[in-house]
Amino acid sequence: MSATVLVTGGAGFIGSHTCVELLEHGYGVVVVDDHSNSSPRALERVAKIAGRPVTAAYGIDVRDRRALSAVFDAHAFDAVIHFAAKKAVGESVELPVEYYDTNVGGTTALLSAMREHGVHRLVFSSSCSVYGDAAAVPLTEEDPAAPTNPYATTKWLCEQVLADTCRRLPDMSVLALRYFNPVGAHSSGLLGEDPRGVPDNLMPVLAQVAVGRLPGLRVFGDDYPTADGTGVRDYIHVRDVADGHRVALEHLGDERGMRTFNLGTGVGTSVLELVAAFTHACGRPIPYEITARRPGDVAALVADPGAVARAWNWATTRDLAAMCRDAWEFQELNPSGYPD
Ligand code: UD1
Repeated sequence: MSATVLVTGGAGFIGSHTCVELLEHGYGVVVVDDHSNSSPRALERVAKIAGRPVTAAYGIDVRDRRALSAVFDAHAFDAVIHFAAKKAVGESVELPVEYYDTNVGGTTALLSAMREHGVHRLVFSSSCSVYGDAAAVPLTEEDPAAPTNPYATTKWLCEQVLADTCRRLPDMSVLALRYFNPVGAHSSGLLGEDPRGVPDNLMPVLAQVAVGRLPGLRVFGDDYPTADGTGVRDYIHVRDVADGHRVALEHLGDERGMRTFNLGTGVGTSVLELVAAFTHACGRPIPYEITARRPGDVAALVADPGAVARAWNWATTRDLAAMCRDAWEFQELNPSGYPD
């Protein structure tokens, strides 16, 4: 029998691409998602791409302990991938309690259910934002954590909760993956990033400008200590992130305890470089203006992807052109995102 994986937040941007990857590799997949920032339509499209649906999908909040326990009663899970969380940096400054409650409280509720049901294997969705305003890039997993906003702090706290849990429960095996900037979409054009309301991340803004939903891009600062003065990030194709999760599942059994890995390409791209790449991909001009820096932003965040390469013999395979092409394809085919 194939292994069954619980994917929390499985209808979201990274979660849905990971469901496709797992289904295509023979896993059974059960999704828990409250759809607070995702569309149930995404799972219909997952089924269309993968040629078979997820085993079950529950529209519940992971903090609903009774409902979550019933999900664990109904299925025998070999492992859990925990994506369900809030992720908007600006919003986290406005609503810190909601962020700690959802992100940290969701993780502790999940750990309780796992312990009660004897499930010991977890892949956790962490973030490069735990590194904060890095003194130098590329960043290795040994670089100090220094979160600069509540969102990043929730991810760092969850890592501490997981590390303490692993110290206490010797059967536990946890992989925390610190993603850099996931972008792009599935090459079918069926699955992509569909933020609710006005997007605040760069790639969805570019896509919505290109399709005419937004008038133009504001480039947040050109006075950073980077080559062209704009912020540098390590953009990683969402399908590489999804593939990384599948490979992580295979390596959960390598050793017990908690391990932390960067998921990035090692390539830094500035805002203006991404504008140029996206303009090329969509064949339309992207009007932009330089504005003030965005509070809380950092100059550069780029991964040293060496640790994961050594541990799993794994690396990303998709470049910036593919990220832009696939993000544009999804936006062009779904100008208003997933249908309601
Ligand atoms: C942030 C978080 C990251 C989180 C992600 C998703 C940090 C350091 N990073 O990424 O952990 O997973 O959000 O919510 O907290 N930019 C513009 N104009 C725009 C939008 C962005 O110039 O309209 C610039 C930003 O200043 C930055 C770059 O584009 O230099 C990338 O920004 P964004 O896509 O928002 O991602 P991060 O802030 O890096």
